[in-house]
Amino acid sequence: MTVICKASAYAHANIALAKYWGKSDVALNLPAVPSISLTLEALRTDTTLVFDKTLTHDELQINATQAKEADQKRVSAFLTFLRERYQQKCFARVQTRNNFPTAAGLASSASGFAALVIAFDQAFNLGLSKSELSALARRGSASAARSIFGGFAKLDAGIAGHDALGAQPLFDAQHWDLRVVVAITTEQAKPLGSTAAMTLAKETSFYYDAWVKHAPSLCQTIEQALGERSLTKLGPALEASAMSMHACMLASRPAIIYWNAATLSVLSALKHARETTNLAAYATMDAGPQVKVFCLPADASRVEALLMTCEGVQRTLTSKAGPGAQVTEAT
Ligand code: PMV
Repeated sequence: MTVICKASAYAHANIALAKYWGKSDVALNLPAVPSISLTLEALRTDTTLVFDKTLTHDELQINATQAKEADQKRVSAFLTFLRERYQQKCFARVQTRNNFPTAAGLASSASGFAALVIAFDQAFNLGLSKSELSALARRGSASAARSIFGGFAKLDAGIAGHDALGAQPLFDAQHWDLRVVVAITTEQAKPLGSTAAMTLAKETSFYYDAWVKHAPSLCQTIEQALGERSLTKLGPALEASAMSMHACMLASRPAIIYWNAATLSVLSALKHARETTNLAAYATMDAGPQVKVFCLPADASRVEALLMTCEGVQRTLTSKAGPGAQVTEAT
């Protein structure tokens, strides 16, 4: 027997309504601002971990293809962190599959690291709590801490040196039936990863300090709006969070521009539809050119049709709230 243990798990990506951007502790990967997200049913990562004594290093396959060296290194460094913490030595074969474009600003690192932590816990029978699992996932990618939970989750800002920070569930998936319609404007991986971009913004953007100062109050408004299920309160606040984060990126040197022409075309079409037809739909963008539009279920097909009229939008993808990360039961 060369395989010591194996396990499979899945996790869903999440989209932040209140954005995380910037770190208070780079080594511990602690966020500088609080964030709130919605976990999405339609965006899923499935991961299998096989710990095999014959391996001399970790192996990573993404969508049945050997991963790029940078991704291999990142996942292997994370597995090494987990192995050291839980006194394990064996290398792993990692097979992961995303049902959506990888690394194109659709939060594949969030679902990826969340699934990895759940599979690790299961493989070694560690019995960790959700809060512990979330804190571990944060070390891989801060947004992954939120994907441990379903529905709406919150990740507070971290205090340098305090490694126990995990996300918390805020409201479950049934609390408010919102839809997210994603306009996919490219399937290409993003040119600059979020960690490098955050460092550049902190070092060079005039607006970084202003962002860190004002993001918490936007986050608070978003939490209240979710509690009240008020889309007219939520929408402008979630757009302000995304726009302020991107303003901070744009003022970096060199400027960090994740958008493309189709991103702007969607933003302009949405604004026009809001002003002329009272459509209640609000946009957010992450470290990529895709636009994610929050709306009520009754408006989702109108939003889909509107996005498809925008030049450069290749397809749309609609999701409701999804569940937290879980072990895949053997069939
Ligand atoms: O968790 P990371 O390192 O992939 O950073 C994610 C940052 C944003 O997606 C831009 C915002 C967020 O809160 O998810």
